[in-house]
Amino acid sequence: MQSECAEIQAQLKDRILEITINRPGRKNALTMAMYTEMAGLLNSAASNPDVRVAIITGAEGIFTSGNDLTDFLGGSAEGEESPVFQFMSALYHFPKPVVAAVNGPAVGIGTTMLLHCDLSFAGNDAMFQMPFVDLGLCPEYGSSYLLPRIAGHAKASELLLLSKRFSAQEAVEIGICNAAVAPEEAIVRAREAAAELAKKAPAAVRLTKQLLRRATQEKGLEFIQDEGRYFKERLASDEFKEAATAFMEKRPADFSKFN
Ligand code: COA
Repeated sequence: MQSECAEIQAQLKDRILEITINRPGRKNALTMAMYTEMAGLLNSAASNPDVRVAIITGAEGIFTSGNDLTDFLGGSAEGEESPVFQFMSALYHFPKPVVAAVNGPAVGIGTTMLLHCDLSFAGNDAMFQMPFVDLGLCPEYGSSYLLPRIAGHAKASELLLLSKRFSAQEAVEIGICNAAVAPEEAIVRAREAAAELAKKAPAAVRLTKQLLRRATQEKGLEFIQDEGRYFKERLASDEFKEAATAFMEKRPADFSKFN
């Protein structure tokens, strides 16, 4: 399987599709072209019998700094037709296990997507954050539904309302990651787990994933649609414009004038 986009690398080996986010100059921030590429890779892997497991990771010790904020400011669509929705939908419905290896920043969708992965291994250099409120936005892709169920209401509020950064160790305690390991071990552990899964009875693995997700699948979709609508509205808000402009101008956002 070949990637058409230089900033997304794909390698298929021993029935494992490894997808690497590769835009280190922008801390692996995800553009529309990158989402489209990842959606295409996952969608074709879903029906390809040569793929039993997918790994998602980032190049150069960075998972991803989330959505490219310049794209967001440029008014790129967030509706169901948008590349980011296509990617998250492909991940949400991917029938085979997905293993994440996380190093460095895993911000915004970088953390959100872990809620939809099946296993994840984080280097002790990882930094997680869902800074939606700090950006004048709101949670996305089912995180306001899944996170309280994984972490409990108090922790979910802390992470989403306060946009609090957290470490690999905390990600394990919360239940977002399976293990916090030495930075260079994250990809090693992910590949080991993927290799183990690739040897197991494939239909049994797929069915078990489906059953594990069943209780949250349907309700999750409802939340994804509602959050998507609100998120799109928030992208047009003055609060978001102030937050994103402040980031680009390397200054703190000033929300004092908003009601
Ligand atoms: N979108 C666009 N550009 C981004 C970006 C993003 N999400 N994240 C980082 N960049 C750019 C920075 O603007 C900077 O550009 P410059 O070299 O022209 O100044 C470059 O990538 C390096 O980022 P920098 O902030 O200097 O790196 P850092 O190591 O100090 O911090 C992060 C890394 C990820 C903590 C920080 O970049 C960050 O908070 N990024 C924004 C995350 C975010 O809000 N994502 C959207 C969630 S919806």
